[in-house]
Amino acid sequence: MSDAERTIRMEVLRYHPEHDEAPHRERYEVPVSHDTSVMEGLQYIKDHLDGRLAFRWSCRMAVCGSCGVMVDGVPQLACKTFLRDYDDAVTVEPLAHFPIERDLAVDQSDFVEKLEDAQTWLVPAAPRELADGPHRQTPAELERYAQFSHCINCLLCYAACPQYGLDPSFTGPAVLTLVHRWEADSRDGGSDDRRATLNAETGVWGCTLVGYCSEVCPKAVDPALAINRNKIESAKDYFLRFLTPRGGS
Ligand code: SF4
Ligand code: FES
Repeated sequence: MSDAERTIRMEVLRYHPEHDEAPHRERYEVPVSHDTSVMEGLQYIKDHLDGRLAFRWSCRMAVCGSCGVMVDGVPQLACKTFLRDYDDAVTVEPLAHFPIERDLAVDQSDFVEKLEDAQTWLVPAAPRELADGPHRQTPAELERYAQFSHCINCLLCYAACPQYGLDPSFTGPAVLTLVHRWEADSRDGGSDDRRATLNAETGVWGCTLVGYCSEVCPKAVDPALAINRNKIESAKDYFLRFLTPRGGS
């Protein structure tokens, strides 16, 4: 951090479960220049004011998805949010709706388990060998899922989702988006194993259409759009159950 133009008061939520009875805020005066990000403010605190402050980061360029926090109550990437946009004070808290592990680091286990349960990876529709070469797709096939493949698993959409806050069994925006990403991929054949996740009450039908997930997404993934498209497929499954002996998938 260089060429400081002013200072800002950062009010950071602190919680060390082994020492603290409850989460509490602490205040720090941090020098700010035009290009000081919230993450650099946190790093200043750690380097100069309190080395015990815990927060996650890796890439510093909105790629890894590690640095999600609530900035003045809004889910943001700390590395992509700049202190120049705040006046005299700003609050920084851990992502809403997740248990606090320590200070600004939250326990992401629920999300990771849901990613695995939903099989959010390519299940090849047909076996292929290296000798078969690249599995080419047309631009139109790519277009069906490209936007949804930009998800960086940052969890901002979960912190924004009131339904997940009320009922953590809801599969949630990013996992449902990534399910749609693979469902829409012409190379994939894993649909049968994902339908149970999609069609459950805790799946797409748990979404109450608030849409804040799409507003806060830093990669313009638009999880609300993915969930709505999944709802169409899920509704088709429902009606196909009455027409086919084995069910709609
Ligand atoms: S959908 Fe957007 S907000 Fe949600 S985890 Fe992916 S990148 Fe982050
Ligand atoms: S540090 Fe990687 S997204 Fe912010």
